[in-house]
Amino acid sequence: MKTYGSLTRRDMLKATVAAAGVQALPAAIARAAERQKMRIGIIGSGHVGSALGGVWARAGNEVMFSSRNLDQDRKLAAQIGANARAGTPQQAAAFGQVLLFAVPYSAFPEIVKSLGDSFKGKVVINASNPIPQRDGEIASQAREKGIGLFDAQLLPGAFVVRAFNAVPAAQMASAHEDPGKIGMPVAGDKRAIAVAVRLIREVGFEPVVVGGLDMARYLVPGTALSGDHAPDEVRSIAATLKP
Ligand SMILES: NC(=O)c1ccc[n+]([C@@H]2O[C@H](COP(=O)([O-])OP(=O)(O)OC[C@H]3O[C@@H](n4cnc5c(N)ncnc54)[C@H](OP(=O)(O)O)[C@@H]3O)[C@@H](O)[C@H]2O)c1
Repeated sequence: MKTYGSLTRRDMLKATVAAAGVQALPAAIARAAERQKMRIGIIGSGHVGSALGGVWARAGNEVMFSSRNLDQDRKLAAQIGANARAGTPQQAAAFGQVLLFAVPYSAFPEIVKSLGDSFKGKVVINASNPIPQRDGEIASQAREKGIGLFDAQLLPGAFVVRAFNAVPAAQMASAHEDPGKIGMPVAGDKRAIAVAVRLIREVGFEPVVVGGLDMARYLVPGTALSGDHAPDEVRSIAATLKP
């Protein structure tokens, strides 16, 4: 093996990657995604969290629901049955290889802070939308910076992806009955896109990757990619958008 002083080429590569701050998706997450079974922590188990978590549990993933109401989450998990359980947001974040956030955006920073480092190295899918009339100043700031970039700043060390922002929760629960008809735009960290794509497909939507976190701003309600579109329509609209 070629050496550089006392370092091997592999050491040099490792050092270069570390210096560039590039971190790979943990192998366990990549393997789980390939094996069709993942541990998913759901933070916010209302309309969106319960719909997506229910479909993912029934598809064979292990799901933990969480909110500020553990009793309600236990009832939800019992209704869904096998593969579903309940915990606190901290427990759900520790449990999941993938975390879904589906909370009012105003609560998002405080929840993230309460999670410590538990989200680091995990795939985070954020369905939480910044709605200024509901969430106040933080929503305006997030929209101004671009929601994907704002999320990533709040979640250092996570592999952040945005999806499920633009269609009603009822469709998230029913899309698997007639899969592939609705396009789901997805934007985010390219290391996490394959995992998100797999989970979107399980829900019954056709994933359409539209770019990195800078493109996520087109996914929130009231912007170009929001609403219910066929996959080809999502592709045509996305082709007209600039990062
Ligand atoms: N509804 C839709 O069709 C739809 C579609 C796409 C995206 N979205 C977005 O997804 C997010 C969730 O929407 P939703 O309709 O599912 O809302 P929801 O039914 O009101 O559910 C919100 C969930 O977040 C939990 N929550 C709120 N504050 C919390 C906190 N501080 N800590 C932990 N959990 C907290 C709530 O439980 P507790 O209050 O009991 O803690 C509840 O489980 C929103 O940002 C929304 O804009 C909604």
